[in-house]
Amino acid sequence: MAISEFLAELDELVASATEKFETAANGDLLEAARVEFIGARSGLLRQTQQGLGRIDKSDKPAAGKRFNEVKQLIESAFETARARLEAGIATAEDEEHFDPSVPGVLSQLGHMHPITQTIEELKDIMGRLGFSVADGPEIEDEWHNFDALNIPRSHPARDPLDNFYLAVGERANDHTMLMRSQTSTVQIRVMEQSPPPVRVISLGRVYRPDTPDATHLPMFHQIEGLLIDRQVTMADLKSVLRLFASSYLGEDVHIRFRPSFFPFTEPSVEVDMSWHDNWIEMGGAGMVDPAVLTAVGYDPEEVTGFAFGLGIERLCARRHGIDDIREIYRNDVRFLHQF
Ligand code: FA5
Repeated sequence: MAISEFLAELDELVASATEKFETAANGDLLEAARVEFIGARSGLLRQTQQGLGRIDKSDKPAAGKRFNEVKQLIESAFETARARLEAGIATAEDEEHFDPSVPGVLSQLGHMHPITQTIEELKDIMGRLGFSVADGPEIEDEWHNFDALNIPRSHPARDPLDNFYLAVGERANDHTMLMRSQTSTVQIRVMEQSPPPVRVISLGRVYRPDTPDATHLPMFHQIEGLLIDRQVTMADLKSVLRLFASSYLGEDVHIRFRPSFFPFTEPSVEVDMSWHDNWIEMGGAGMVDPAVLTAVGYDPEEVTGFAFGLGIERLCARRHGIDDIREIYRNDVRFLHQF
């Protein structure tokens, strides 16, 4: 056999083996191609090798060398093809494994946070009692958080340890700002902007450096109520709070006023709500102090009013039987899913 014929055969073998390996669409086809070309017994490579014996003796070294090169080329083409399939490049066979009858995975839908739900419900209840919603900033000045609320400079409620003061510029002492510690700030903002009568609620976040426990958080929400008109009395305050409590918490809920003190109301009360003799403090309330009415330009001889401020987390906790208000903000979806 002439060496040229042998070499041509080898070239053809490389070309066709490489093509078959490269186009094998799945593992089975590649394996078939492997057996066809490099199968140990009857692979084409093996058959071609037998031709070596018929080459002239003087040409044998050159023919043998080329044969070994070709063998390596074909083997490495096979390895490349195998790596390609293992890397998961899609093949026709993979698609056959798609089973459209397997049930899908339901994606979980989110919903409003329990506190947001509570806020919406409280707005609804108070809306039915004729109160509209007012808003105010969470970063406040001392006038709205203290001065206008009749809380003098020396009052312990202004203690830096009881408030989140913010440093504003170099002259911080002249422009002291703080994270509001109560929604009563909005009472002032509303009265400054509109003449009586007033009938508003305001719901939002307030901040205090309180140590977290089952009934305290450093950031929580309050609902503030303010009603100013002619001849408003404590009886009106109690009626509104009673209606509010029974609408949100149920008819079996009782409310109780305990004498208390707030600089911006006189008289002032602590508001407790109960189930089966179990009383919980929900907030403070009282008749708006004449000094506050004067500070916003109202005439205390003409109008009177009541105000109240209740803790929203505590209301939400009571309504849903939550023992510890810290749960509300742990963001455990197993907890949040229940609302
Ligand atoms: C006040 O904040 C007054 N501004 C309420 C008020 C408004 C009185 C209008 C008179 C007229 P007090 O600090 O007691 O009051 O807070 C009211 C309610 O907020 C508390 O009863 C409680 O329900 C809730 N609260 C207070 N501190 C926390 C806290 N750290 N975490 C969660 N809730 C709190």
